[in-house]
Amino acid sequence: MLYDVPVHLGERSYTIHIGAGVLDLLGALCTSAGLKGNCLIITDENVGGHYARAVLEALEQSGFSAVLTTLPAGEQTKCGEQVSELYSRCIEAGLDRHSFIVALGGGVIGDLAGYVAATYLRGIPFVQVPTSLLAMVDSSVGGKTGINLPEGKNLVGAFHQPALVLADLDTLKTLAEREFRAGLAEVVKYGIIYDAKLFELLEEHVAELSDSGNADFLARVIGRCCEIKADVVAQDEREGGLRAILNFGHTAGHALEKVAGYGEYVHGEAVAVGSVFAARASVDLTGLPQAECDRIEKIFQALKLPVKAPGYPWADLRAALAVDKKTVAGMPKFVLASGIGTVSIGNDIAEDQMERLWSGLG
Ligand code: NAD
Ligand code: GLY
Repeated sequence: MLYDVPVHLGERSYTIHIGAGVLDLLGALCTSAGLKGNCLIITDENVGGHYARAVLEALEQSGFSAVLTTLPAGEQTKCGEQVSELYSRCIEAGLDRHSFIVALGGGVIGDLAGYVAATYLRGIPFVQVPTSLLAMVDSSVGGKTGINLPEGKNLVGAFHQPALVLADLDTLKTLAEREFRAGLAEVVKYGIIYDAKLFELLEEHVAELSDSGNADFLARVIGRCCEIKADVVAQDEREGGLRAILNFGHTAGHALEKVAGYGEYVHGEAVAVGSVFAARASVDLTGLPQAECDRIEKIFQALKLPVKAPGYPWADLRAALAVDKKTVAGMPKFVLASGIGTVSIGNDIAEDQMERLWSGLG
């Protein structure tokens, strides 16, 4: 059974389909979405072995001619060299303006394949088949595509909405436990920024939430996260304002990822630490009750995510904050909460206070 979440964006509208054991529906869903012709499936070596055959067969059974390309796994794949390689694969596969690309994998494959789709022949359709929890609740929805430069992450990109998203919860069973838990940090984020009831549900069901095989509970939670992201993106597709609330916990989180050396903290772990930083700042600056700040910290601990990051000097973190994409005139901007479920964007934190908050996490 599929749980469908619509993303309302006028002529760029599409549906997020969520279910367990549903990869075989991909061909029919592509046909319903109006896709035609041949396609290139882009995946990585960790995901392809498990799921590429099912995706290929589903597409071929619906009359699509599909070619598969498998890339190395990991963040370093999201780069310009791979984009050039993929343009060549598109040409070899005979992709024209009526063809499409299928991104089968986590956020790395989704961002990279989406960027190739956004730019090849000035843009062809693409389909997201997210297989990591982070990709299901965040990166596959909303049309941000892009690659990294040697100078930094996500510095080149384009907004390009997918034609459809198909999230098969069964794929989470092969995702590494650490990656799954990291994705949970983004799930908690949706409760903090938008939905106090979702936050309560998560608090009450930590065991179910921690079980990547619990498709019923995860469908409910992932569906709600997608509804929230769809709602935010429908109101602010290109991040003129509101969409920035999705960055709660990410300002300090991104800086920590950079200072620690990418990979030391996976993204969601750094976001958990950054969220505690933002929650504590919110108590001082935007009236978040201390009890709600404590609940935020407690849920990350219950999900076995880090809430401290000892060993990283403030000076290093401050230098990393200075080059954050959201920084204006050297001052990082923070998303802060006034209560669980309600946040504001563009907040400053005084220098001495940022330092004090950071030393509290050491
Ligand atoms: P990822 O794509 O690197 O996946 C994490 C690891 O899990 C990889 O090794 C991958 O091969 C493996 N994997 C994925 N699904 C699997 C499965 N079902 N079974 C076994 N292994 C599996 O990383 P991610 O956490 O999914 O995404 C991170 C990327 O997403 C970053 O590049 C980040 O910048 C980007 N991102 C983009 C957006 C956006 O809006 N576009 C939002 C958030 C993050
Ligand atoms: N992941 C943040 C956004 O999509 O805007």
